[in-house]
Amino acid sequence: MTYSEVYAQWKADPEGFWMEAARAIDWDRPPTKALSTVGDGLYEWFADARVNTCYNAVDRHVAAGRGEQTAIIYDSPITQTKRQISFLELRNRVASLAGALRAKGVEKGDRVIIYMPMIPEALEAMLACGRIGAVHSVVFGGFAANELAVRIDDATPKAIIAASCGVEPGRIVPYKPLLDGAIEQATHKPEFCVIFQREQQVAKLIEGRDVNWHGFQYGVEPADCVPVEGNHPSYILYTSGTTGQPKGVIRHTAGQLVALHWSMKNIYNVDPGDVFWAASDVGWVVGHSYIAYAPLIHGNTTVVFEGKPVGTPDAGTFWRVMSEHKVKSFFTAPTAFRAVKREDPTGAHIPKYDLSNLGQVYLAGERADPDTITWAQDKLRVPVIDHWWQTETGWAIAANPLGIEELPTKLGSPAVPMPGYEVHILDPEGKPMKPGELGAIAVKLPLPPGTLPTLWNAEDRFRKSYLASFPGYYETGDAGLMDDDGYLYIMARTDDVINVAGHRLSTGAMEEVLSGHPDVAECAVIGVADPLKGQLPLGFLCLNAGCDRPHTDIVAEVVQQVRAHIGPVAAFKLACVVERLPKTRSGKILRATMVAIADGTDWKMPATIDDPQVLEEIKTALQALGFAK
Ligand code: COA
Ligand code: AMP
Repeated sequence: MTYSEVYAQWKADPEGFWMEAARAIDWDRPPTKALSTVGDGLYEWFADARVNTCYNAVDRHVAAGRGEQTAIIYDSPITQTKRQISFLELRNRVASLAGALRAKGVEKGDRVIIYMPMIPEALEAMLACGRIGAVHSVVFGGFAANELAVRIDDATPKAIIAASCGVEPGRIVPYKPLLDGAIEQATHKPEFCVIFQREQQVAKLIEGRDVNWHGFQYGVEPADCVPVEGNHPSYILYTSGTTGQPKGVIRHTAGQLVALHWSMKNIYNVDPGDVFWAASDVGWVVGHSYIAYAPLIHGNTTVVFEGKPVGTPDAGTFWRVMSEHKVKSFFTAPTAFRAVKREDPTGAHIPKYDLSNLGQVYLAGERADPDTITWAQDKLRVPVIDHWWQTETGWAIAANPLGIEELPTKLGSPAVPMPGYEVHILDPEGKPMKPGELGAIAVKLPLPPGTLPTLWNAEDRFRKSYLASFPGYYETGDAGLMDDDGYLYIMARTDDVINVAGHRLSTGAMEEVLSGHPDVAECAVIGVADPLKGQLPLGFLCLNAGCDRPHTDIVAEVVQQVRAHIGPVAAFKLACVVERLPKTRSGKILRATMVAIADGTDWKMPATIDDPQVLEEIKTALQALGFAK
């Protein structure tokens, strides 16, 4: 079937389409129907089924006689370690960890926070939670203690599973002090913490609270898979919104299983047994869906890569891993390719490796610039697929579905909507726009299986953030257009979210930190264009009257504060002091105009501006930082 036929088939009978896709999953009790409406604008998928994620990701492959197949390849150039774990070994390790968690009182529905770097034990921890019906929430290692504390208070976990440390190029990142600091700061206290000790830095355990990963599994009965309802949460993943309070995106068990399984052949074009590699991090949605769950559910081998595209040890690392492990489909963020291209523009490392197994490459997480795509096409000689999705959706809204049909590539476009997503471009009143016109991108409800049903503990916020602007639609927060052929173009965010090196960050959260500085009266953070990371945060500070401290000191202090409160991943290093911020007459800060001035793109003087002169002052400040050329 062609893409158009598959999409039309879904549109004609969504219920039948997803019930058919559901046949790929091993159910304890199969669903009698796909979609249930549970409230105004609220939907659930396969709610009356009973199923277990870990069984589908691990045990069923062992039961089918494929226990000897490699499930996880761990390749860590940063610690110079390589390891392979078969499905059988994975099953035994996960069952043992799940048994130990259960023996300490973790039950179905309890939350468990996982704070781990890119090591196989992170996946094992996720799967162990799923095995006993516990709900995990993985926190990215580049976040500071404060961010972890916010998540502890929101998810109220019974336990936290953490590693003693992460390893970044040139430095060890001690996780344990961050964990201890976060627990101290949080109001909610977990009952216990499981610490996986890494040899790079062994952590001191707190007696009575911390247990050693290995020790606490000793002599414990392994746990079997506990079937849960189809609408039981598999995990909560926090993502950036407009404020410093992140949004807890929930993923339901059955929808995730069905949608992710469907995506592996149809979008990523792999068959069970093929090696799939997503070079991301388990702390992000790409890591959840395409390092941990989808490849394992589909019976693929997944690669857990602990390294960077460059510097571990060089810009040939990606190609070395692909050739050594016979990777068929590779997924990364455009920024990673830009980093490689900057160090090795001619691709001199590539011919050193046998890339004959590589079938295709996928890019997501941020806008894929045409230069990066053409560079990758030219150097790798395989299809390079831009696809668009979000933490909220868990899998691609738009893609070029290679497993169905290879559609022509249009540079700058992540191609066409996937079955399940009816995408519309709307004007501010919610009216459909014509092909080629820029508007808000919205998806007609219901969203397909595998997408967020609501936010953790925050149904009102869910409604306000996603459902309120356009009744009957899910608002993606992205602006863009659709051409005459139905190809989408994603142009910008409509909110205060920015994308730095493929990492989604909230400028609002950074502003909250800057406002906390005693000398700062008012501030604004915008995302400015950066050739490597896509965007970089840049802060404007207005100081309290009478403050005569050197501006360089204040800038250095706020940079340090953002690192300490949000984490190094915020990459907040640019700030300047200005007299005033440009505002409308009603007091709204004109952030979009500031971004346009910084990036040197066309802009019009906003009709509602209070004092046009302020923009000149902003331009001068930006020029001093090397922007607004
Ligand atoms: N734990 C602790 N610190 C981390 C971290 C982690 N897991 N990940 C990143 N950091 C730190 C970095 O060490 C860096 O610290 P520094 O300010 O002391 O140098 C800081 O956070 C910023 O990181 P990053 O923006 O990633 O920049 P970088 O210069 O280290 O690397 C790239 C640049 C492009 C190589 C890197 O961003 C990359 O590989 N990006 C791929 C994007 C990706 O995987 N996105 C996931 C969505 S698909
Ligand atoms: P995250 O939730 O971290 O995956 O970030 C999702 C956001 O990243 C989207 O809403 C977009 O703004 C951006 N994004 C992701 N993929 C793409 C893409 N292929 N093209 C353009 N923007 C993208």
